[in-house]
Amino acid sequence: MRVAILGATGAVGRTMLQVLEERGFPADELVPLASERSRGHTIPWRGRDWTVDVPAPEAFRGVDIALFSAGGSRSREWAPVAAAQGAIVVDNSSAWRMDPEVPLVVPEVNGRRAAERPRGIIANPNCSTIQLVLALEALRRAAGLTRVLAATYQSVSGAGQKGIEALRAELRGESPTASPFPAPIAGNVIPWIGPRDAAGWNEEEDKLRNESRKILELPDLAVAATCVRVPVEVSHSIAATVELGRALTVPEARAALAAMEGLEVTPDERDPLPRALAGRDVVQVGHVRLDRDLPRVLHFWVVGDNLRKGAATNAVQIAELLASA
Ligand SMILES: NC(=O)c1ccc[n+]([C@@H]2O[C@H](COP(=O)([O-])OP(=O)(O)OC[C@H]3O[C@@H](n4cnc5c(N)ncnc54)[C@H](OP(=O)(O)O)[C@@H]3O)[C@@H](O)[C@H]2O)c1
Repeated sequence: MRVAILGATGAVGRTMLQVLEERGFPADELVPLASERSRGHTIPWRGRDWTVDVPAPEAFRGVDIALFSAGGSRSREWAPVAAAQGAIVVDNSSAWRMDPEVPLVVPEVNGRRAAERPRGIIANPNCSTIQLVLALEALRRAAGLTRVLAATYQSVSGAGQKGIEALRAELRGESPTASPFPAPIAGNVIPWIGPRDAAGWNEEEDKLRNESRKILELPDLAVAATCVRVPVEVSHSIAATVELGRALTVPEARAALAAMEGLEVTPDERDPLPRALAGRDVVQVGHVRLDRDLPRVLHFWVVGDNLRKGAATNAVQIAELLASA
């Protein structure tokens, strides 16, 4: 099987290469693609060096699965080209996520949707959405869902390699040359991810709302988020409050969360922490408690590695569904 990776030199692309190798994905040929800047560089993978090229229609010829992680504009331009060459595209950008003809897939929640892809494109959700919907789906199965409030604590790697480099430079006392953040990130928290609309919502907050509704197939679910960048290198954390369809006790809620594939519930005294989750595929949930005042309202804390389950691992899991179909 031939697999192309557009964005192979980026934070997510490099994690994809690692995850494909770790999981023994049945690919024997790699087509690494990136910008002109990386053309001709080599990438070691499965004991061979593969030469990086730039995207072109010929680059996708004979490709079975193309994993895209090079930003929205590249996805809008190249996904239809790759699909026309016969590749199935799994796209990590936000370009296609809300297209009604493109399934938005978290395999544990709605993997069956990967089979319906009229454009030959499957979208990978936003990193925070992936980890949150695992918990939401678990609770929906147990008790139904009527409302979701989320405050995210998103790591700098969510803004790619430049985000990691900006934090590291600031921690060394230097000014980063190309920070993707609107303010210094070391020693700071920034409640501004993506452009802000006239009503005051940031794009990342709308992604969490719209994508959760689409994946859960609950188009009227009330979802509101405040998305915040924090000076953590890897792993996003989310403080979530949900109103359930019927009341659950804490042990019932913990059992429902633990029953969800891909999700682990931590013991009370060991809440999930971003540093502990970095480099892991599992998403952890903890600090589960009932609201003291409101019936049917539950609070919890959910953490996952944004580069792995939030991006690369979820994409590779989708590719595994395609390879086994
Ligand atoms: N980071 C996350 O947690 C996360 C999670 C979910 C989804 N995503 C999405 O995944 C995508 C990549 O994110 P990232 O964090 O990996 O970013 P990144 O570290 O900045 O990497 C970007 C990649 O895109 C390539 N690229 C840039 N311009 C290009 C062009 N004109 N033609 C071809 N390739 C080009 C870069 O190649 P060069 O190295 O040659 O410049 C690099 O390989 C984005 O759409 C992002 O929204 C990221």
